[in-house]
Amino acid sequence: MIPESFIQELINRVDIIDVIDKSVPLKKAGANYSACCPFHNEKSPSFTVSPSKQFYHCFGCGAHGTAIGFLMEYQGLSFVEAVQELAKMVGMIVPQETRDPEKPQQKAIPGMQEALQAALNYYRAELKKSQRAIDYLKGRGLSGKVAGQFQMGYAPAGWQNLQSVFSQYDSEILATIGLVVENEQGKRYDRFRDRIMFPIHDQKGQVIGFGGRVINPEDTPKYYNSPETPLFQKGHELYGLFMARRAMRDAGRALVVEGYMDVVALAQYGIEYAVAALGTATTPFHITKLMRQTDEIVFCFDGDNAGKKAAWRAAMNALPALNDGLKLSFLFLPEEHDPDSYVREFGKEAFEAKMQVALPLSQYIIQHLSEENSLQSQEDKVQFLNEVEPILQQIQAPRLRLLLSKRVAELTGISLGEMKSMIKMPTIQRTKTAAPRQVRTTVSLHRRFLLMLLMRPDLVVQQDLEWVQSNTEEERLLSAGIQVALTYPSSKPAAILHQLQDKADARLVREVERELHLLDESLDIELEFNGARHQLMEMYQQQSHTSLLDRLKEKSLSELTEQDRALLKTLGNSAKNKQQF
Ligand code: UTP
Ligand code: MN
Repeated sequence: MIPESFIQELINRVDIIDVIDKSVPLKKAGANYSACCPFHNEKSPSFTVSPSKQFYHCFGCGAHGTAIGFLMEYQGLSFVEAVQELAKMVGMIVPQETRDPEKPQQKAIPGMQEALQAALNYYRAELKKSQRAIDYLKGRGLSGKVAGQFQMGYAPAGWQNLQSVFSQYDSEILATIGLVVENEQGKRYDRFRDRIMFPIHDQKGQVIGFGGRVINPEDTPKYYNSPETPLFQKGHELYGLFMARRAMRDAGRALVVEGYMDVVALAQYGIEYAVAALGTATTPFHITKLMRQTDEIVFCFDGDNAGKKAAWRAAMNALPALNDGLKLSFLFLPEEHDPDSYVREFGKEAFEAKMQVALPLSQYIIQHLSEENSLQSQEDKVQFLNEVEPILQQIQAPRLRLLLSKRVAELTGISLGEMKSMIKMPTIQRTKTAAPRQVRTTVSLHRRFLLMLLMRPDLVVQQDLEWVQSNTEEERLLSAGIQVALTYPSSKPAAILHQLQDKADARLVREVERELHLLDESLDIELEFNGARHQLMEMYQQQSHTSLLDRLKEKSLSELTEQDRALLKTLGNSAKNKQQF
């Protein structure tokens, strides 16, 4: 792994204009540079490069990216090769994981690994001692054998049990790997208490993190995971992959499910090639990782609404990683089931039979997009084309892309040629005045704030982390953006966006990239930023007002929860708070 901080520094130091100009001579055009796009055939230039944002973008074919992305795409380099190439250009040396064992940072890594292993041994021993935990697992139908295979454990109730495992309970390492957390008073306690423990392994079989499930159904959250640590990045790891690798190769396919319990239950019933993303969306990294093991991936998410949403996100995130040799399909279980309950009720054969008839990706995309679109009116068809456009543009696999395009053309009653010209035909671009208006009218408040933040990360302050919420995909991206901005206040937009890549749906990130490119640079960013922040805070406050009032309607004052009281208090203070900015 090349440290993210190095990538940041690199993107900030190289100039994308120099990089691209070497292979594709650029001409100055206003604030940007332009050329005929090297990624598709064209006669007039729609490929533009922005020196201030450090991005390239083609309005014709949708190609876009950073300097690193350009080298990968244009010269066919791998990510690491592209980084090395750029580093050479600006005289930087790419840090390597195994170099220089003297550095304290490097030394800490073996310490982390050992600490996680020690914790795992402890949790496993505790499981053997706790009749309550054993009963819980038995009650869910788990065999001792499979619990052993997955090295499951139990973190007992109590605040500082790990003191008995680590003589230095105050060691920095324990906090870094997320085994302990600190409260506001600086007091430490165990992160996992009274939870069934699922160790998460890397590809070498070493434990790098944990997921913990409550036993007591009243406790929340139901699952609690290790935070992101130097060893554990959720967007890159899959639960169960180490155990599943062999079976994956034997079966010739991988099954991606949502939950820890799903993976374990499937294994117990003989489907040993299942893995789960760790409470995050499936990312292109996940797909690429699985593609190294197999060329058939079946996604099976829960039958409920959340499962359906997760499936669509997985599909969208898979797009950039697709190739024509890969078979992706989607299996939808009946509403009331998840893979765990389904395999328990119907068994391995029934489950595998269902996999045989899973929906192929292209069919799934069409089905999903036409679910609420009857494709009757011209407007329906236009909407359909609008929705399918960014999808097609992300598919690099030529055959899949062609077949999907054909189907889209059929459904909308146009010829393939017409559709191709339409999809390439930019709807928002070229006319200089249209661009800023685009941003002003169609971008949500969150998006607007995010765009300004990308332009001026130095304007972000610590308090911004406090008011922003994380309920929607967009909000999660925004709060991730705030964190990155706080860490890298002088980074270029492209460098920050690069860090956000696996923090949200790839399509969303791409949209943001596109909007960023269209952003009118003559705007007073600082003013816009403060304005957007103010409006967002106002909006949140309005929301909590409304929800509090709703709740108050149903309750008498004496029934107010602690949370309600706190909320009432903040409402009182809100006017004061706002003046901080
Ligand atoms: P589910 O809520 O579908 O749980 O979450 P499950 O896997 O069916 O678990 P059981 O059967 O109730 O034990 C699916 C996955 O989402 C993540 C976990 O990875 C979980 O396995 N998750 C869920 C969290 O990270 N936190 C939560 O609070 C809930
Ligand atoms: Mn379940």
